[in-house]
Amino acid sequence: MTTSDPTQNSDPNRRDFIHIFSIAATAVGSAAVVWPLVHQMNPDASVLALSTKEVDLSAVEVGQAIKVFWQGKPVFIRKRTPAEIEAAEATPLSALVDDNARNANLQSGAEASDNARTTSADGKATPEWLVLVGVCTHLGCIPLGTSSGENKGDYGGWFCPCHGSHYDTAGRIRKGPAPENLAVPPFEFVSDTVVRIG
Ligand code: FES
Repeated sequence: MTTSDPTQNSDPNRRDFIHIFSIAATAVGSAAVVWPLVHQMNPDASVLALSTKEVDLSAVEVGQAIKVFWQGKPVFIRKRTPAEIEAAEATPLSALVDDNARNANLQSGAEASDNARTTSADGKATPEWLVLVGVCTHLGCIPLGTSSGENKGDYGGWFCPCHGSHYDTAGRIRKGPAPENLAVPPFEFVSDTVVRIG
């Protein structure tokens, strides 16, 4: 009398089916475990809201600047006068300490022309508006020049009193120990008067 092992199946078609079925079941099981993990890793709306900030600029007049906070950092937004724009545009790259645009909306290495300093995420330059991370690139102080009456430095932009760094009307370092231009954060105008940072 012969006994048969139920785990051994001599029918090749049935054996293949069991094999494929067990692989598929394992794959589905793995996917079921992975999905909640992937889902957890997707930022929800509240996280996205924290990573971007929309600012209504309708009350900002020509020549004024405001300071807002984005991701814990100060951001300066200045509505530049025609004279400030002209001064920034007329400055040759050879006069700059740092000729890198430092603009998160452009490829790294872009030149620090005034046009490049005011280019937003959609590739448009907005000469009237300058958007900058307000952190001195020397040792991280917050430069003056945003509130009215504050010292704007020798180049009419911002002045960092900590060690005497002067930035021009495009936020480019012109004098003092700071090694880099003030950074331009990711930004884009979502309407004529509302800018989204981040
Ligand atoms: S931190 Fe601004 S000049 Fe030193």
